[in-house]
Amino acid sequence: MILSIESSCDDSSIAITKIDDYKLIYHKKISQDLEHSVYGGVVPELAARLHTEALPKILEECKEYFPHLKAIAVTNEPGLSVTLLEGVMMAKALSLSLNIPLIAVNHLKGHIYSLFISQKALMPLSVLLVSGGHTQIIEATSLNNMKVVARTQDDSFGESFDKVAKMLGLGYPGGPIVQKMAQDGDAKAYDFPIPLKNIPNIEFSYSGLKNAVRLAIETELKSSPSVPQHLSTSVTSNICASFEHTAVAHLIQKLKKYFKVAHPSTFAIVGGASANIRLRSELEKLCREYDCKLLLSPLEFCSDNAAMIGRCAIEQYNQKDFIDINSLDISPRSSFEAFKK
Ligand code: KG4
Ligand code: ZN
Repeated sequence: MILSIESSCDDSSIAITKIDDYKLIYHKKISQDLEHSVYGGVVPELAARLHTEALPKILEECKEYFPHLKAIAVTNEPGLSVTLLEGVMMAKALSLSLNIPLIAVNHLKGHIYSLFISQKALMPLSVLLVSGGHTQIIEATSLNNMKVVARTQDDSFGESFDKVAKMLGLGYPGGPIVQKMAQDGDAKAYDFPIPLKNIPNIEFSYSGLKNAVRLAIETELKSSPSVPQHLSTSVTSNICASFEHTAVAHLIQKLKKYFKVAHPSTFAIVGGASANIRLRSELEKLCREYDCKLLLSPLEFCSDNAAMIGRCAIEQYNQKDFIDINSLDISPRSSFEAFKK
């Protein structure tokens, strides 16, 4: 069995996975949404302090598995340095005291392996990774051969939901909240321009859309001076629905271009924002149109979790990809650099 730890952002999570049949034996996650919600985003130092409380609490529940552990795995890149450090310190201590090897896992590769929890991996595949920090298309033929072929020029898809939620005063994380508000709204109420619509390149951008939403909010606030700084629920829902519609339309439009040139036989979406219902259903349509198999992670494994880190670590364990305790360091590098390893 492998014990895996994830603390790259605001989720403290530990999992135990069986090496021979990939079976997930134990998995727990303590999220910090409530604590960061008042700030409208993750406060790194607060996140780090909360990890120091949550991780030992979860570890306590795993003690019965200690005699069966063959390795300790931990996310070491990319992420927030102060929070990565919490998981890495715990992993080092466990490896040393139990005298078992350490495995350093790339968080983005972990997201890709969230597709294969408790099962064998299926590659090659093309993946759209949509998380809080990344929006990119990755072509993966194996654990050691993953290439980023398209990325965002500015904000990420998930981040744009967080920023829209913040502008509307809806809390954090924005994705699930905006999605819920959008369900009661009219997606045609605002005509937000689809980003990079007339640009042939396969790349993404969300800062322009975010700005268009900001202007719409300002215009609505000005037009109702009797209730300053407050939008009605129906206006908020309409803004959320129109924004979500445009944000997804941008992804689908660029993916269509990608499908036309790359002809993937298997396509997947991973990352926290891959839980978005509109995105999932639009992608289902696109994959049907292009006769492509679509892989989706179960909803509980879309956002950050240690189960995906443990699943990825099994591949590394089988390759004896261990790291010396003294050279295991955190590395908040960009994803592109992280993939070049
Ligand atoms: O992968 P993840 O848990 O953390 C990172 O590695 O960043 O992704 C978190 C991101 C947040 O930006 C959150 O707002 C977004 O995923 N997200 C969503 C949805 N659920 C989570 N975005 C859009 N729609 C959702 N349903
Ligand atoms: Zn993530």
